[in-house]
Amino acid sequence: MDKLIIRGGNPLLGTIHVSGAKNAALPCIAAALLTEDQVILENIPQVRDIETTRKLLAAMGAEVELGYGRAQHRTTISCKNLAAPEASYELVKTMRASTLVLGPLVARCGRARVSLPGGCAIGARPIDLHIKGLERLGAKIVQDHGYVEASAERLKGAEIIFDKITVTGTEDLLMAATLADGETVMQNCAREPEVADLADLLNKMGARIEGAGTPTIRIKGVPKLYGAKHSIIPDRIEAATFIIAGALTGGDLNVEDCDPTHLDALMQKLQECGVKTTSTKHSVRVMGDNPLKATDIVTEEYPGFPTDMQAQFMALATQAEGTSVITENIFENRFMHAQELVRMGANIKIEGRRAVVRGKTPLSAAAVLASDLRASASLVLAALVADGETIIDRVYHIDRGYENIEGKFKGVGAQIRRIGEMLPKRHGAGS
Ligand code: UD1
Repeated sequence: MDKLIIRGGNPLLGTIHVSGAKNAALPCIAAALLTEDQVILENIPQVRDIETTRKLLAAMGAEVELGYGRAQHRTTISCKNLAAPEASYELVKTMRASTLVLGPLVARCGRARVSLPGGCAIGARPIDLHIKGLERLGAKIVQDHGYVEASAERLKGAEIIFDKITVTGTEDLLMAATLADGETVMQNCAREPEVADLADLLNKMGARIEGAGTPTIRIKGVPKLYGAKHSIIPDRIEAATFIIAGALTGGDLNVEDCDPTHLDALMQKLQECGVKTTSTKHSVRVMGDNPLKATDIVTEEYPGFPTDMQAQFMALATQAEGTSVITENIFENRFMHAQELVRMGANIKIEGRRAVVRGKTPLSAAAVLASDLRASASLVLAALVADGETIIDRVYHIDRGYENIEGKFKGVGAQIRRIGEMLPKRHGAGS
């Protein structure tokens, strides 16, 4: 199993590049299930969750080709023949977002059989809202032996009001509704930029969607969708991780190929912390020469402060002067990184959904365990400023969503290396 070894103390200097958004790439790949034509996606990040999605589609009979060399961020998908519209537990258990295939499969094939995702380290994470929405669209749903089976000759447009805002739920039903008979109006939708990116692709494929990125999305169903070419938006969570790294290490870092308009909530909080930043259309420069001040954050749906940046922000808070209160509103069990940060010397008390961080405390290197994707990113950030050599175990969590994290940080001056056998796994042919 791979480990990251990080020696802290170096300010990050220079330019670091942001990859395409994993959370936009996943639904866009699933969207290719809606057509028998070829879908070409550019700016796909090379991360493990994308590889899992490739396997998921390949198991159904799709041809998914990942680019090599200069085209390494291109993925070409052809779902002409879908022999088995099924997603097995083996794949779904490693990536909850696999449920994104449910809506497109039932819309295109008239039936789908997808494993329930089961428990997850960061909370229960049910998919009841996906199921309810598909029922509203006329699908018959049966849950049996840990699988959801959905069937419908053709889905029918309907009004769907989400009881709770769900990102992949919005995306799943948006895809399903594109091929439904008649108009669908979805209320209380997720407004994340990744939803809007998916709608952009679907409209290029011939869908008729209005309002993606707002709480109300209207979809006029069409009988057929076609091939398209689309470039995925930049990963705002990876960009945020780099910006926090620049601030935390007292560096001068230019975070390139991002979209600063997706980062407003973070930038506002960084300003409150005393971090200096400047932005252009596609980059953020962060200058970490001021002492950091404590500030409170509350995670919310977009455009609020993202839960996916909470762990990384906590690492920053350990180095800020004063008390920061971090409230996690989206997931009920998303403070696993706090324990590991405490082992490195942080002063953090958990009170239900709130973490109280008292800073500034010096951090010292320790052997720590990555528990989920964003938690591992916060440990990398803490290690970058810790005294000594931190060893982060279970790096596969970070590989799910960060492309070549050690190469990118090394390029801007971090002392970071990987030990283990990552390469054969990442490029393994098995599907
Ligand atoms: C997506 C992101 C993930 C991010 C999360 C919240 C992807 C692939 N993943 O996850 O990185 O952390 O949004 O921004 O885009 N819920 C229900 N019933 C449902 C669905 C969700 O109760 O059917 C609850 C969840 O348990 C959670 C909340 O709604 O408490 C939000 O979850 P949701 O937005 O669905 O998260 P994901 O789409 O899984």
